[in-house]
Amino acid sequence: MTIKVGDKIPSVTLNVMTEDGPDAVSTDDFFAGKKVAIFGVPGAFTPTCSAKHLPGFVANADALKAKGVEAIACVSVNDPFVMGAWGKDQGVGDKVAMLADGSAKFTKATGLELDLTERGLGVRCQRFSMVVDDGTVSSIHIDEGTFEKTSAETMLSEL
Ligand code: BEZ
Repeated sequence: MTIKVGDKIPSVTLNVMTEDGPDAVSTDDFFAGKKVAIFGVPGAFTPTCSAKHLPGFVANADALKAKGVEAIACVSVNDPFVMGAWGKDQGVGDKVAMLADGSAKFTKATGLELDLTERGLGVRCQRFSMVVDDGTVSSIHIDEGTFEKTSAETMLSEL
């Protein structure tokens, strides 16, 4: 079942790339005690995600933070090396945490899988956005095909 408003973010471990290599991040720690804007994409370096979705959150990071968002995260079913390289390529700096869900544990636990097997990509994450308050989902959007509902601009207009 897909995660919905009022649900708790499941307890799983994601990974981030650091200067010392991949590091584990528990969702319990990441979401605790703060308002988090998180969005998911089907793949690092893919056209829509690279040209529009991630850049929108980088460009609007300060505006989101001015509306109370304390952390912004991008999650994708990619390994931390790829997510680290994608973040560097997009110049995210410390504006967006690039969370690698390499084994799709977060994606499966939230029911947000997208089966792109026939396109050679395997199981990926749907394009989604959520606002999470102290670990509880306060809004969620899922896009099919486009990215308008899950864009940073839409989130900003709703905060
Ligand atoms: C994209 O443009 O974001 C995309 C393209 C192919 C597969 C997954 C994502």
